[in-house]
Amino acid sequence: MRNYNIAIDGPAGAGKSTIAKSIAKKLEFIYVDTGAMYRAMALFMIKQNIDFDNKDDIENACDSVNVTIEYKSGEQQVILNGENVTNLLRTEEVGKMASNVAKHNTVRSKMVVLQQNLAAKANVIMDGRDIGTVVLPKADLKVYLTASSEERALRRWRELTEKGISCNIKEIEQDIIDRDKQDMNREISPLKQADDAILLDSSNMSIDEVIDKIIELFKQKCNE
Ligand code: C5P
Repeated sequence: MRNYNIAIDGPAGAGKSTIAKSIAKKLEFIYVDTGAMYRAMALFMIKQNIDFDNKDDIENACDSVNVTIEYKSGEQQVILNGENVTNLLRTEEVGKMASNVAKHNTVRSKMVVLQQNLAAKANVIMDGRDIGTVVLPKADLKVYLTASSEERALRRWRELTEKGISCNIKEIEQDIIDRDKQDMNREISPLKQADDAILLDSSNMSIDEVIDKIIELFKQKCNE
């Protein structure tokens, strides 16, 4: 039996993970948050004090990093060298560092293999920056999900505030703009809309509207 793949790409804070997680539950797919994998790599590099711009140091460090994914009650758990680091990954600092680490080919090749192996084993909805363009070029449905930077900053601010993390909305917006710029302009697998991806701007849509739209698009694609 063949597996179904849905690829969701887009800039930081567009709501990809919330939406993909909910769609995974509704369709009984596995949700793969690829950003969390890059964040785990970044956490390792931060802990080891590795210079993100030093290609050799990053390459050497990559040999000592083992990132794996497990599922506990349907929730993705990221295991970094045997330690469950899932709850340490969602800070702005780690997000920013992940974008620096993700520029390197050694890091990306390692992550892409892991992601493709997950997709080969199950029906997956995967979100990230290069899913439709590189990781799952033959995905059944590709969505490029975006929203204005103001709206994305507001959503990230709410997410962090709800977790009790104090933050400044203007700084968050600037970080988002800087991170998108770096992700869109890097040499290897930059963030861009795949030619066959459907563009969804969620600035004026509720989460439920986006979820329903993506499920509708998926059903349409499967009936084509
Ligand atoms: O999606 P999230 O904000 O967790 O991703 C953190 C960073 O990881 C992104 O800014 C991006 O640089 C990198 N990333 C990537 N490719 C992916 C997923 C994330 O380069 N597929």
